[in-house]
Amino acid sequence: QKAKALQALQSETSDCQKCSLAQTRTNIVFGQGTPDARLVFVGEAPGYHEDQQGLAFVGRAGKLLDDILSNGMGLTRDDVYICNILKCRPPKNRDPGPVEIPCCLPYLERQLQIISPEVICCLGRIASQCLLQTNDAMRDLRGQWHDYHGTRTMVTYHPAYLLRNPPEKKKTWADIQKIMAELGLKRPA
Ligand code: URA
Ligand code: URA
Repeated sequence: QKAKALQALQSETSDCQKCSLAQTRTNIVFGQGTPDARLVFVGEAPGYHEDQQGLAFVGRAGKLLDDILSNGMGLTRDDVYICNILKCRPPKNRDPGPVEIPCCLPYLERQLQIISPEVICCLGRIASQCLLQTNDAMRDLRGQWHDYHGTRTMVTYHPAYLLRNPPEKKKTWADIQKIMAELGLKRPA
């Protein structure tokens, strides 16, 4: 079933040497959460803390994502699945490169196929443009439903962007409410 298939995929990635990030990574960040997730968050790439721990969204941006999950949606990390476009950290957190993305994206595609969530939420421009294969700007992408191989896909801002631009949190909250409506989730008391 899903857990087994994800484990098999994870062990397949565990010594990945497809791109040069293999030389600079500390850990591969495969992604984590429940294999039965109805909702998958897709970010950009591991940062320093993620690379150190081998877990997605464990730094400052991750704390805000936790906040969105618990205070906003009444969920915990164990209710969802969290992963990234790239499984290895780009040096100095530079943007994912044109060689790295096509090397790594097939892993994510298979991961999403296994989990087959009801909703995908892309966090930020890079994740959205890569997954949806578009060059459209965030102002046009966010808050809208998109289609990823038949899965309803919402685009919202990256938590790191929200930390730099707190007034934009209102818009992400509106986007999150669309996801909750789609999943039939009630706002926590
Ligand atoms: N930013 C991301 O896009 N992903 C992480 O896992 C952490 C920070
Ligand atoms: N630009 C980005 O890269 N991400 C955001 O979330 C917003 C603007």
